[in-house]
Amino acid sequence: MRVAISNLKGGVGKTTTAVYLSQHLSGTGRTLLVDLDPQASCLDWGNAATRAGEPLGAELVALAPQGADTFRAVLRPIDSLAAGYDHVVIDTPPGDRLMVAAAMSAADIVVIPTRPSKLEVARVGATAELAESAGRPIAVLMTSRAGAKALGLARQALQTCGYPVVPEVIPLREAISTSYGHRPDARYIGIFGQVARVLDLALAA
Ligand SMILES: Nc1ncnc2c1ncn2[C@@H]1O[C@H](COP(=O)(O)OP(=O)(O)OP(=O)(O)O)[C@@H](O)[C@H]1O
Ligand SMILES: [Mg+2]
Repeated sequence: MRVAISNLKGGVGKTTTAVYLSQHLSGTGRTLLVDLDPQASCLDWGNAATRAGEPLGAELVALAPQGADTFRAVLRPIDSLAAGYDHVVIDTPPGDRLMVAAAMSAADIVVIPTRPSKLEVARVGATAELAESAGRPIAVLMTSRAGAKALGLARQALQTCGYPVVPEVIPLREAISTSYGHRPDARYIGIFGQVARVLDLALAA
């Protein structure tokens, strides 16, 4: 599968999702992790993991196109690189609509990570609309330490907007935040396997 991890809002767990999901997928086939964020967090994570003797399962490439031709400068290399891989996961920067739109066009499906707070749920719409313009299905993925009530309300609000929500919720765990620069924590790979199954089902529908 080719999946873009996008949310125009920053700090919602895009990079963490991209690294963990690509780690799961790399166990099922050759996987490319594309870092489109000028902050290069994926690339830094992968390089640090390699230095620590714990290389990521996915191969990593960073693209940093600039200027008016961003759209084609993103789409073309991803399209040609993707041919050699079973799976491509694209981490996108916050805020950059052109870059995010290009990543979405290069993908089959868009995962939109969000926290279940009212503020963040309200911000999902802008990214969902961009995916709709690109003609790509979405799956909203909640990352949370919240209780059942807050999660239920967030899920309801998202579903009322017509957005498909992944049933699994990624727990907020210190072990996940401290795995930056290391191989993803094996205890949390399984849940990203469940996310991948949801994406497969959505793509098959
Ligand atoms: N499941 C989790 N458990 C604990 N911490 C998490 C989890 N997911 C993300 N974080 C932490 O939240 C912060 C933001 O996560 P991340 O960098 O993945 O978000 P992002 O959307 O890629 O941010 P940006 O928009 O700046 O690229 C990081 O410090 C990360 O370690
Ligand atoms: Mg990021």
